[in-house]
Amino acid sequence: MREGKKLIFEKGKKELKTLNFNARLDIDPTELNELLPESLQRKDIPIPDIPEVEIVRHYFNLSHDNYGVDFGIYPLGSCTMKYNPKINEKISRLSGFCQIHPLQEENQGCLELMNLLSRFLEEITGMDAFTLQPAAGAHGELTGLLIIKKYFEQENRIKNKILIPDSAHGTNPASAKLAGFSIIELQSTPEGEIPLDKLEFAMEEGDVAGLMLTNPNTLGLFDRNIETITKIVHDNGGLCYYDGANLNPILGKCRPGDMGFDIVHLNLHKTFSTPHGGGGPGAGPIGVKKKLLPFLPEPSIIARKGRFTRDKSSTMSIGRIRSFWGNFGILVRAFSYIRALGADGLKRVAEISVLNANYLRIKLKEKYHLPYDRWCMHEFVLSDKDVPNGITTEDIAKRILDYGIYGPTIYFPLIVSGALMIEPTETESKDSLDHFIFVMNKIHEECRENPEIVKTAPHDTPIGRLDAVLAARRPILHD
Ligand SMILES: Cc1ncc(COP(=O)(O)O)c(C=O)c1O
Repeated sequence: MREGKKLIFEKGKKELKTLNFNARLDIDPTELNELLPESLQRKDIPIPDIPEVEIVRHYFNLSHDNYGVDFGIYPLGSCTMKYNPKINEKISRLSGFCQIHPLQEENQGCLELMNLLSRFLEEITGMDAFTLQPAAGAHGELTGLLIIKKYFEQENRIKNKILIPDSAHGTNPASAKLAGFSIIELQSTPEGEIPLDKLEFAMEEGDVAGLMLTNPNTLGLFDRNIETITKIVHDNGGLCYYDGANLNPILGKCRPGDMGFDIVHLNLHKTFSTPHGGGGPGAGPIGVKKKLLPFLPEPSIIARKGRFTRDKSSTMSIGRIRSFWGNFGILVRAFSYIRALGADGLKRVAEISVLNANYLRIKLKEKYHLPYDRWCMHEFVLSDKDVPNGITTEDIAKRILDYGIYGPTIYFPLIVSGALMIEPTETESKDSLDHFIFVMNKIHEECRENPEIVKTAPHDTPIGRLDAVLAARRPILHD
């Protein structure tokens, strides 16, 4: 084990120094007892006796054991791990944005930014209004489904089922269940699209609230029947929900609102700057068509007599779903990203994300099985079907790590056995795509000529292959 792998508490001298917090805080113990019950007070906290420089080295080394887009290509399908311009980070850290508290008097600049961001998102998606409250994509889904539920309740119509294709992101059925719906799974056609006959049949049942759809879907395919699909749902009294987590391939090209969707969530932390992943804050705004506007969470921001203020006047709102204004810093980054790129820049995002994915797709299908062989959008899915010597998707993904690259998403979507889901994103250069192709081809060669090296990978990472199932079932968490 390298020195850097020790926990900070395992470093330094054996006898740990302790801090006497009572003395440090300069608080009378009886006063402290009033603030915090004695049972919750820690008498001392062992702090390792390490010089500052070693602490800095410890964390600096740990940061290098991690991988991010600043290190290299991060082709994690569906996750859109793209480079986020540092200017957006800088802007979100301006003191006017980050040193205010939501309990202060309403800040006109911040409210105006949120108001304008909503207008931009309306224009981009073809929706009539937005709430910026949801804190993530899945949270946006839950919000949207609660809106759908309330809409039907208000109309005294019993609609307790949601249709979701088998290619959907796992959060879709999970959110629908949480919102109180039962789920009908639609089996995709051999072309990876929605089966129109099955959709029509299910909608005719009468108790289906609508369809939840990602388009382009998790296979990276744009459903060519989208207008027919939304028409079938509407003709049968349902609503269409658009999972817009991956909006980058359609920015400025087409809009969910024009495809016939009534409600959409976006992942600002994927499409519109802000690094995705790592469990940090995100934002999953919800956009709706006019008829669903009264159900949006409150408060909303409105402009009245030249000032921006909060509005709580709707009697049909589903209520608040997040404290204060949501994850405001993420909204600032998205605003800055949209303003910096402008309409033409956003279109270029779409064009390059699709171009990059198709470049990889065409090059990689020479060696790897491509189950859905057609023009893709921002991502595509390979499989381990024809890989020799019994080598699996997991082996390939682990071997990729040895080449200093993060692996693609694996074994998802579930409809492709042994899926390798690849999304290069629009921010990768041709050189970096060519390097990825080189690595994938090299691994394919190894699969034929030196299969053991692939089966036992990774060899060049701080730790070797983990038993992922055991780690998930029996995690050992340090106290
Ligand atoms: C298609 C799709 N829908 C929904 C989500 C959920 O978003 P979040 O992780 O922010 O909850 C994701 C996340 O990657 C996604 O790819």
